[in-house]
Amino acid sequence: MIKIIDCGSQLTQNIARRIREQEVYTEIVPYHISLEKILEGNPEGLIISGGQFSVYDNKSPSVDKEIFEQDIPVFGICYGMQLITFLSGGKVKPTHKREYGKTKVRLEKSKLFDGIDKNEIITWMSHGDIVEEIPEGFEVIAKSELHPAAIQKNNLYAVQFHPEADHTEYGRQILNNFLKICNAKKDWPRRNLVDNLINQIREQVGDEGVIGAVSGGVDSTTLAMLMRKAIGDKFLSITINNGLLRKDEEKEVCNNLKNLGLNFTYVDASDRFLKKLKGIENPDEKRKIIGREFISVFEEQAKQLKNAKYLAQGTLYPDVIESIPIYGISSKIKRHHNVGALPDDMNLELIEPFRYMFKDEVRENFSKKLLPKEIALRHPFPGPGLAVRIDGEITPYKLKIVREADAIFIEELKRRGLYYKISQAFAGLPNSKFTGVMGDEGISEYEIKLRAVVTKDFMTADIYEFKWNDLKEISNRIINEVKGVNRTSYDTSTKPPATIEWM
Ligand code: XMP
Repeated sequence: MIKIIDCGSQLTQNIARRIREQEVYTEIVPYHISLEKILEGNPEGLIISGGQFSVYDNKSPSVDKEIFEQDIPVFGICYGMQLITFLSGGKVKPTHKREYGKTKVRLEKSKLFDGIDKNEIITWMSHGDIVEEIPEGFEVIAKSELHPAAIQKNNLYAVQFHPEADHTEYGRQILNNFLKICNAKKDWPRRNLVDNLINQIREQVGDEGVIGAVSGGVDSTTLAMLMRKAIGDKFLSITINNGLLRKDEEKEVCNNLKNLGLNFTYVDASDRFLKKLKGIENPDEKRKIIGREFISVFEEQAKQLKNAKYLAQGTLYPDVIESIPIYGISSKIKRHHNVGALPDDMNLELIEPFRYMFKDEVRENFSKKLLPKEIALRHPFPGPGLAVRIDGEITPYKLKIVREADAIFIEELKRRGLYYKISQAFAGLPNSKFTGVMGDEGISEYEIKLRAVVTKDFMTADIYEFKWNDLKEISNRIINEVKGVNRTSYDTSTKPPATIEWM
C-alpha cells in the first residue's frame, strides 16, 4: 500500500488513480495526522502531494520530519518537493509568481527515470516558489532552465513537476518507477473481485435484512446486483421517483430492475418533491431540499420493513476522503446528493462495499461484470436530476422542455452510433428567453444547451468533438420538435475549470 499525504492539490486524486492503474492499493490521508497514523497499515511508500501554498505561509501544510527516517521511500511532488527541501535544511525561494504549464526538463541518471529513453522531457508544472539551494546530501537529478526540477537522497525523491498530470511525458513511467523502488505489492485487483465482496457482505449481514435506495443509475444498480448475488431476496431496493427524472425514465428503470430479478418497491413521490421546490432558484438550495425530501420518503418506506438492519450505499472513495482544513482536495465544490445523512434513530448500520473505490473502478470491476451492457454503459445521471439542469425555478413547463430536448438528443446519439463514444451527454435549460422569428412574429423562447463529454473518471473531462453536421441536424430536430425552444448551443468547456453539470 502507498499512502498519499495530501497537501491540498486538486491533482491529489489523480496520483491515487495513476497508482491504482498499476494495481497497487493507495489511500489519501490529510497532512495533519500523526506520524503513527500515517504509518498505520505499513505503507510500502509515501507520496507528499502538491498544494497551493508556499512553505513560508503561516498555516502551510507540513509533515513530521521523522517521516524521512523510517526506511520507507518518500516521493515529494511539487509542493512536496519544496517541503522536503525546507524541512531538510535547503532553501526555497518565494517568487510570488506562478510558473504554469509545459516546461522542459533535463534528466540525469536515477532509478526514478529508469526506462526513459530521452534526456529531455516535457513536464507540466504549476508552482510559485522554487528550490534555490538543495539540502545537504541531496543531488539534483533533473533540471529545468531556471531551477532544480528533481532531487534525490537515498530513497527520498522529489520532483517539481506533476508526473500525475497527463501533460507530463513519461509521467506514468516515473510514478511506476517509484512503485518499483517501493517494491509495492500489486494486489489491488484481487482484493476487488466480485466473489471477495460477496463473501464479505454475507459475513457482515448474516440472516438480517438489507435495504438500499436504487435510482436505476449504474452505480446503485451495480450495488443492488452485488447485494442480490450476496444475499438474494433479503435485499430490498427502494426506488423513488422525485419528479426530476428524464422522459419515461421511471418506466425504463422499473423494467430494468424487474428484468434483473431484483426485489424492489417503487414510490412515486414527484408531487412532494416538486411542491417543496416551488419558487426555489438556487442550485445548492435545490440540492438540499431534494436530499432532505429523499431521506424523509426513504425513511417512511424503510419503516415498513420490520427486519431491515442494514442500509447498503454506493458510497465511493472521493466521498470519504477526509478534507484538509485549508483548500482540501475533497473540499466539496458542489454538494453531492447522497443518502449519507440518514437520521440516527433509523438505527441502520451501513454497508458500503465500494467505499475504497473510484467510480471507474466500480464500473470496470463490477458494473461490466454484473450488468448487461445497456445498463452498465448508461451515462450517469445526477441524484438531484433535472433540478440541476434547469436554471432558476423548476416548473412543469420547463421540465417538459428539457425532457423532450434531452430525449431527442440521446435518441440521435444512439441512432448515429455516438452514445457509447460519449461518457455523458445531456440537454439543459438556461433561465433566459431569447428572441426568434417564427412565422411572422418575433417571439421570445428558451434556449437548449447541449453538453457531451468524454472522460474516464469524471474528475477531468474533455468535450466530445461532434461533426458539424451531426450537431446541426440534432439542433434542427430539437428546435422543430420541442415547443418553446428557438435556439440551441453546444458547451465547449472542459473540466476543469468547468464541471460536467452546469450547477
Ligand atoms: P461534476 O458536475 O461535479 O460531475 O463535474 C461529475 C459527475 O457527478 C455527477 N453529479 C452528481 N451526481 N448528485 C449526484 O448524484 C449530484 O449532486 C451531482 N452533481 C454532479 C455528474 O452528473 C457527473 O457524472
